[in-house]
Amino acid sequence: MQNNDTAAVFQDIYLEQRWHSTESVSGWGSELGNTAQVIRELPGLLRRFDVTSILDVPCGDFNWMRHVELDGIDYTGADIVPDLVTANQAAYGAPNRRFMHLDLLEDTLPGSDLILCRDCLFHFSHADVFRALEQFARTTARFLLTTTFLYRSWPRNADIATGQWTPINLEMAPYELPAPRTVLVEGSNESIIYGPDIGTVPMHDRCLGLWDMADVRQRLERRADTP
Ligand SMILES: C[S@@+](CC[C@H](N)C(=O)[O-])C[C@H]1O[C@@H](n2cnc3c(N)ncnc32)[C@H](O)[C@@H]1O
Repeated sequence: MQNNDTAAVFQDIYLEQRWHSTESVSGWGSELGNTAQVIRELPGLLRRFDVTSILDVPCGDFNWMRHVELDGIDYTGADIVPDLVTANQAAYGAPNRRFMHLDLLEDTLPGSDLILCRDCLFHFSHADVFRALEQFARTTARFLLTTTFLYRSWPRNADIATGQWTPINLEMAPYELPAPRTVLVEGSNESIIYGPDIGTVPMHDRCLGLWDMADVRQRLERRADTP
């Protein structure tokens, strides 16, 4: 079942191309110039942790992921925008690669070794980030690989309305995950414009952090126990 509000928010962003990039409807962060390091290093990370299947949610327009060498890895991409899923399936579907329409906040997520959730939680309110983590924790996945900004010195984790954007550090409040097992530094060329007080800060610390799903589950249990 889909939450109509979330679906409408991201459908509108998609239709109006509100993430500005002329290369990818998923935005600047999904351009090849900003993902070269991820494309190069992701296969090695998957091999190192014996990952044989991934759920890439959200998959967006598959702009950079189609360049990742995924031999021997079963791939499922999923997104809340149906047109993206249909286009991806038509262009890139294969026996070991499929695309599904789903809302990661609501629907039962298919099983995989690892959930890749790149550039998504930073578009969610605090409540929706926790809902997403709960959803991931309910799966059989062993790992969560997701976007986090490592530096603690800049404003992080604002409680935005879902659909907006804020730099997110998953080790900081209110999320407080433990330190990731490892990080893949993205080498992004983007910057964060904080405004006159702070100025513009390069995204040197934009990473994909790898967490054991057991650690995510433990954190959520601790939260449930807090009155
Ligand atoms: C910035 S793009 C990132 C896409 C991809 N991970 C990448 O790295 O290029 C964010 C994507 O999240 C999708 N999305 C947002 N909320 C979602 C939800 N609740 N379930 C599934 N997909 C969602 C949007 O439709 C959009 O395609």
